Amino acid sequence: MRTLMLLTLFGFSLSLSAAPADISRGQVKAAMCAACHGATGISVLPDYPNLAGQKAGYLQQALKAYRDGQRQHQIMAPMAQGLTDQEIADIAAFFAAQQPAPAAKTEAVVGQ
Ligand code: HEC
Repeated sequence: MRTLMLLTLFGFSLSLSAAPADISRGQVKAAMCAACHGATGISVLPDYPNLAGQKAGYLQQALKAYRDGQRQHQIMAPMAQGLTDQEIADIAAFFAAQQPAPAAKTEAVVGQ
């Protein structure tokens, strides 16, 4: 089953010059972001930004900026370091597709 899925994915990516962003691949990769940004992109700590519902283009730009050194941050730079453009597109698609935090929840966190 797993082999069949891999072959299907492989065949799919071969049929296109650039593979489209894949939300489920992004979700797998996003597991390493969950400790700080939450499993669905809603962070539980005041210093860590929510990513859920953010525009995919912005998320991609931010991650590439951390990876390539235009944006500097001692935690995020190493997190983005090993990511390929494809992985960044997948992760961005996953977080962009998540339900954003309700405004009241965001305010409650800020007000703590
Ligand atoms: C150890 C905690 C931690 C982990 C793990 C982490 N981040 Fe972050 N992330 C942060 C912090 C803190 C910031 C705010 C950095 C800043 O001020 O530039 C941030 C910022 C970001 C931003 C910019 C948000 C914005 O509004 O500009 C993106 C995008 C992001 N992280 C994505 C990710 C992704 C994707 C992963 C997993 C590959 C990840 N982060 C893992 C702590 C973390």
